[in-house]
Amino acid sequence: MKLCLIPGDGIGREVVPVAAAALQRLLPAVQLQQADAGWECFVRTGQALPDATLARARECGAVLFGAVSSPARKVEGYRSPIVALRRELNAYANLRPTCTLPIAGARQDVDMLIVRENTEDLYIGEEQRDGDTAIAIKRITAAASRRVARAACETLLARGMHRLVIVHKANIMPLTDGLFRDCCREVAQSYPQIEVSELLVDTAAYQLARAPQQFQALVAPNLYGDILSDLAAAHGGGLGLAASLNQGDAGVAIAEPVHGSAPDIAGQGVANPVAALLSVALLLRHTWQRPDEAQRLEHAVRDTLAAGIATPDVAGAAGVSTAAFAQALLARL
Ligand code: NAI
Ligand code: MG
Repeated sequence: MKLCLIPGDGIGREVVPVAAAALQRLLPAVQLQQADAGWECFVRTGQALPDATLARARECGAVLFGAVSSPARKVEGYRSPIVALRRELNAYANLRPTCTLPIAGARQDVDMLIVRENTEDLYIGEEQRDGDTAIAIKRITAAASRRVARAACETLLARGMHRLVIVHKANIMPLTDGLFRDCCREVAQSYPQIEVSELLVDTAAYQLARAPQQFQALVAPNLYGDILSDLAAAHGGGLGLAASLNQGDAGVAIAEPVHGSAPDIAGQGVANPVAALLSVALLLRHTWQRPDEAQRLEHAVRDTLAAGIATPDVAGAAGVSTAAFAQALLARL
């Protein structure tokens, strides 16, 4: 097994080494390879996702991606490397679970999964500006909708769940979101054990904020899935704990904490590595089919947090450094 490490910018460089060390402890035979991407890489080389990084990611078949900084304004030649990487590797389904963890402030009854379509919708980067008018293209295809629906159904069953909610806004966008909804319905018909329902995205946001424990799994187009999964992450104790896995067909996968590069805390040695650690656990469970190692890693994270050891985003003034958390975690593996 090979894993391509792309730490990226900011706290990506602080959390990826912790997750890599934990993985090495669990599976010493895994070959780790470093690769470069992100804003600083773009400034240095003119490429946010260098060809060599893409080649290495393809060769390894699995990636742990930290986080990158992206400018909020258009910069000529810059495209978000994680969006490009997901597309290039055809990692079309983004699995974002939110589970209760033993920390103060997290809800104690949440165990749910958001499956986000990863390759199209408004994220295809087709924007145009003409004077005071700007437009963006929203593309939805039947093929991409069907394959993410299938991934959602398979993952939901693998996690012992049986209820799926399709999220859309087909009342306003009947052609695009309507197609997504219809394809999900069609695919779900071949899974009679799954109970399917649907919610408009605004209602889904309200219900997710109000009573998240009612949900098992949701499947959504790219933009809604992005936003709703950050909302769901708040119930799990915050962005420092939210994990995700991007998966495709050919065994290619990108494990990726949901958070960004956190410039406000980068370089201070206090970034929470739990999101990256739990992303590696997802890779172990759903891509490499190593449920025992996944569980050992998840238990070690839970045990560490239950012992009151956590970084400041979770523990406030009692928080420990990234290095101290890593040491406590590795001791439990
Ligand atoms: P962010 O996720 O980087 O930070 C939001 C807040 O959460 C900050 O206060 C940060 O300190 C805190 N936080 C996030 N992760 C944490 C962790 N592991 N431990 C402790 N605290 C943590 O989102 P923000 O500030 O909107 O974006 C910062 C940069 O990251 C931007 O350039 C943005 O484009 C980029 N970004 C990259 C993503 C990626 O690479 N997948 C995803 C989201 C944002
Ligand atoms: Mg996001």
